[in-house]
Amino acid sequence: MIDNQIPVTVNQKIRKTVLYIRKKKGIEKLVALAAYTAPMAKKIDQYVDMILVGDSLGMVLYGLSSTLPVTLDMMIMHASAVVRGSSEAFVVVDLPFGSYQKSPGEAFQAAVQILSHTGAQAVKLEGGSEMAETVYFLTQRGIPVLGHIGLMPQKINIFGNYGVQGIQHNDGQKILDDAISLETAGAFSLVIECTAERISQKITNTLSIPVVGIGASPFCDGQILVLSDILGMGGDQVPRFVKQYAHLGNEIERAVSDYANEVRNGEFPKLENCYDIKKTKEKS
Ligand code: KIV
Repeated sequence: MIDNQIPVTVNQKIRKTVLYIRKKKGIEKLVALAAYTAPMAKKIDQYVDMILVGDSLGMVLYGLSSTLPVTLDMMIMHASAVVRGSSEAFVVVDLPFGSYQKSPGEAFQAAVQILSHTGAQAVKLEGGSEMAETVYFLTQRGIPVLGHIGLMPQKINIFGNYGVQGIQHNDGQKILDDAISLETAGAFSLVIECTAERISQKITNTLSIPVVGIGASPFCDGQILVLSDILGMGGDQVPRFVKQYAHLGNEIERAVSDYANEVRNGEFPKLENCYDIKKTKEKS
């Protein structure tokens, strides 16, 4: 400390803020990943601007067939782990299905639980103009909101499948209107999922907040993918919008099969992997 001044800190990591995310538009692409655990958050922290604790964890980690059964408690546990594992990235958490759709007040309660129990900085919710009132309610009360339009997995029972949005003749205008109403309501940024490229590009050019694409357009202000997908740990069907930067699924199988063989044929463990009794000094 220098006299009465603020403490001098050396090499202290400062976590990115909502202002940092907003200011990136038009300057540099935003890099985001969905991740759910402390060790993974630790690995990706220095390389990404934003970590989303997405409700896709229901399918990726828990083997559920959709995101609908994911609960607020699950999101809080995973979000806390991601915040503990990271120190630089901006951390956003999905509001799970059923925790925010009924009313702005209910959404506020769910968002407060997430932010106060986890230390995350923002919430994401799915929906277009029908959620604008809620987005306004939250943002006016200190809760930054990341919107999510285009394909909305929590609406699977309405959509009927996880297909591409905005490819029918008139669909594009509705998605653009949704985007504009979320920006007007105060969302700091939007995710646009699995939507026709031309519509995604138009939305990116129309809005003044950053638009982050997943299966959308290279012209979006940033990109987000699910970490396990880019690591090659997803299922056998790899969606077109995913690029695998590693094939860890194969590596895991190889390692586990080597281990199983070595245990069965007595190659593992060796004595070097075991502990000896402590040698005691002889009494004179
Ligand atoms: O839940 C999630 O991981 C998401 C991303 C795919 C955007 O919403």
